[in-house]
Order: sequence, then C-alpha cells, then structure tokens
Amino acid sequence: MPEHIREHSFLVAEVALHIARLCRKRFVPELSLALVEAAALLHDVAKGYTIRHGGSHSQLGAAWVQERTGNAILARAVLHHVYWPFAMDVRCYPVALIIFYSDKRVKHAEIVSMGERFEDLLQRYGKTPLACKHIQLSLEQGRTVEALLEQELKVDLNAYSFDCRRMVG
Ligand SMILES: [Fe+2]
Repeated sequence: MPEHIREHSFLVAEVALHIARLCRKRFVPELSLALVEAAALLHDVAKGYTIRHGGSHSQLGAAWVQERTGNAILARAVLHHVYWPFAMDVRCYPVALIIFYSDKRVKHAEIVSMGERFEDLLQRYGKTPLACKHIQLSLEQGRTVEALLEQELKVDLNAYSFDCRRMVG
C-alpha cells in the first residue's frame, strides 16, 4: 500500500474509532471497536492496485477482505465506502456508515470538513459530468449520514476536531 494511502487510512481509523466510541455510549453498546478499526484500515486496501491497473478499488478491496477474513460486515464496509445503496440506518449498519462518514472527513492525511474533502475530490476526479454527479451524490449521502449520527450522538460532528490537533470549521 502506498505511504499516502496508509497515512490516510490511519487517520480515517482515528476518526472512525472516535465516532464509534461515542456510538457505543449512546446507542449501540455492542459495537465492536476492533471491527470499526479493521474496516477503516482496510477501506482503501486495493487503491494502490487499481491506481496501477484500473478497476474499482472498493469492489476489489471488498473481494480481498471477504476472501481473507470471511467477515461480511468488514467486506460490506469496504465495498460501500464511496456510495451507500441501502437504507440510511446507522443503527442497522453502524460499522459501514461510520467508515463511510469518516472517510469523507479525511482529505489525504488531514481532518477536514466534508465540503473541503469534496472540493478536492471534484478537482481530482470530476473530469466528466457523470463523475461530478457521482461525487455530488456521495457528498449528499455523507451529509445525510452526518445528520443521522449527530441526531443520535447529540454532537456537532462538523465542528469536531476528533484528535484535537486541528479545529475544523
Ligand atoms: Fe476509497
């Protein structure tokens, strides 16, 4: 895995664990922190490969994770970390939706607002109207997950610095 993707994944794990701890306190006491951490660390596991050879990093990564671990919750979090195709239900899918959201708060190796993260994605990947539309949809889904988590956790996640290294606005 390239160094910058490794760094990004470690920071996504930090954010995801922070949110997962809050979730355990508030509404999902059985949530496994180990599973959340593993999903965060693995969400971009195939990115290095697909940068070189093409293909979907989320699909390939999920296939690798399913094959190696046999854990469907872990594989689902990897498979759907860009676009979420199921019900927006943080009680039903806490691991996957925490990863989905946390990834949208980490630009490279920096915790940012979702707006900042998506500006960067649009610049890098928004090469066609269709690509822009997909990025926009992903942002809208991210905002929905943020609102749902905030409702459950009673915190303003967008003003949350997670690791206290940097406040975001
Ligand atoms: Fe990714």
